[in-house]
Order: sequence, then C-alpha cells, then structure tokens
Amino acid sequence: MILGIETSCDETAAAVVTQDGRVLSSVVSSQADLHARFGGVVPEVASRRHLELVSPVVRDALRVADVALDRVGRIAVTQGPGLIGALLVGISAAKALAWARGLPLVPVDHLDGHVASLYLEPAPVEPPFTCLLASGGHTILLAVRERGRSERLGTTLDDAAGEAFDKGARLLGLGYPGGAAIDRLAQDGDATAFDFPVARVPGLDFSFSGLKTALLYAVRDLGPDEVEARRADLAASYQHAIVRALVQRLGEATGATGLERVAVVGGVAANSALRAALPDAAFAPLELCTDNAAMIASCSRYVEPLPYPRYGDLDAYASIL
Ligand code: KG4
Ligand code: ZN
Repeated sequence: MILGIETSCDETAAAVVTQDGRVLSSVVSSQADLHARFGGVVPEVASRRHLELVSPVVRDALRVADVALDRVGRIAVTQGPGLIGALLVGISAAKALAWARGLPLVPVDHLDGHVASLYLEPAPVEPPFTCLLASGGHTILLAVRERGRSERLGTTLDDAAGEAFDKGARLLGLGYPGGAAIDRLAQDGDATAFDFPVARVPGLDFSFSGLKTALLYAVRDLGPDEVEARRADLAASYQHAIVRALVQRLGEATGATGLERVAVVGGVAANSALRAALPDAAFAPLELCTDNAAMIASCSRYVEPLPYPRYGDLDAYASIL
C-alpha cells in the first residue's frame, strides 16, 4: 500500500493506492472557497490551512480505504513545483509519518504526478504517447515513451492555460477558480461570436497573456450592459481560442514526436470543449484531472524511494526543475 500526500497549491489531498494502481481512497479538501474572495491563492493562507487539514485528510484517506497505517509500505509526497510553504507542510507530514513507522519516503514531482494519473486502474493508459499537461500553474507538452520517463517539448512563455481560464473568468465576473464556470457558461454561447487571437510563438511553446488582454479590451468596449447580455458568447469565444491553441500545438507536437497517441492531463483536461475537440485522445478520469494525491502515489511507483531514515533533510522546490 502507498499513502500519497499532495499539498502543492490549494488542495490538501491524501490517497491510498496499491502497487498495481488501484485507488482505495482519494480524499481532496479544496481551499478554493477560502481564497475566492482574494481572487486567487494567497500562499500564506494556503500553508496555514494545509497545516490544519493535513492530519484529518490523511486519517480520512486511511479510513475510507479501510487500511491501518501499519499496512502502508511507503509514503509518497509532492516535492515540487508549487508554493514553497504549502509543499513544506506536506513534506513535513510525510517525513513524520515515514520516520515514525520506519518507512521509505518517495519524493514526487507534481508534473510527473499529473502524467501518472493516467496509470491508475481501472483503465490505465500505456505509453508511448504525446501528452498535454494543462493546469492552473502549467501548460506543458511531453513525449512520454515509458512510465515514469518523459521529455519536455514545450511550455508556456507566460500564463498557463488554466490561469488564462481563471483570468478570463474574473474579467467576466465569474469568480475564482473560473475554468469550470467558463466551461458551463460557454455551453449556451456562440464560440464564433468574437474572434480572440492567440499569439503564435516559435517552436512548441504557448503564450496566453495576449488573449486575456484581448478579452479585457472586448469587455471594456462592450460596456457592462452588453457584457451582461453577451456573457455566454464571450465565454464560448474565449474558451474556443484557448482550446484551439492547445489542440493546434498538440497536433504539431504529435508530428514532432511521431507518437500519435495523445493523452491530456491536469485541471484543464476537465474542459468539455477540449474533450470534444480531441475525440481520440485519452483523458484521465475527471476526479483525477485536478490536483489529488492518488496521482502522486501512482507516480511514486516509478521513482527511487529514499530508504528510512535518509530523508531528514529532504527539501521542497518551488519552480520546474
Ligand atoms: O491541475 P489543477 O487542479 O491545479 C494545478 O496544478 O494548477 O488545475 C486547476 C486549473 C484551474 O485553473 C481551473 O480553472 C482549471 O484547472 N479547470 C478548468 C476546468 N476545470 C478546472 N479549466 C477549464 N475547464 C474546466 N472544466
Ligand atoms: Zn496540478
């Protein structure tokens, strides 16, 4: 049994996963409501909340799985990238648990973790594939040739795709985080009503900051009443621009890698327009798209564990390695 812990951003999560990839429990306590009034995650508030939640969430994961701590063989924890204070709460909890039980500890990269959400039962996706990881913090294209090993092809030069959704949602008065709200509203809108440009940058990278500015100008030019009346059209057109950029680059990445199978992971993989635009792609199950600890436990199966007690000085890292 693997106990996974994830605290890199604003979800406090713990999960129990078996070595063959069955998810016995996956508990996610989102702090989104706590941060909503600030319009984004406040790092210090997130750290403090993780501190309050990490023990009850771990206890809950063990209870739901009906697994006592003495049946856990290793602890997996997100080491980075993410908010440094938030990460340290998870790492400290994981170290304490592992140390107390004399267990190995497995530090997991959050981005590799998202990819490993694809390797869980009951419908694991086998490499090789070209992978799009699109979340609130990252937009990355990867060539995945085997489990636990990937090669980065491109990334965003400014905002992440999820961040573009969130900033767009804010401009449209939809609250935070706004990806799911735009997704819902867009169902009633016309995606061709507005033409929002997405910058084309060289190589396999992305750029979304100009798109947000285009929406800002559209909202300003329309004025409050028109925006109110055309909110669904604005959401649909804005979403369409993000999805088009992702799908286009993913197609180019597939051409470059020669790995024709495509998989999409991360919070934005929950987007219904993206799913519709990629009918042949593999998507992680919805509950495993956004941050969770089952994907961290899954990923730990392909990472060298640190044996007890050689993890006392294990540190977090904030940025992509
Ligand atoms: O993977 P995730 O939980 O956290 C990070 O590692 O960043 O992704 C969260 C992001 C947020 O930006 C959120 O707005 C976006 O995923 N998201 C969506 C949808 N559901 C969540 N974006 C578009 N459509 C959705 N249905
Ligand atoms: Zn994530």
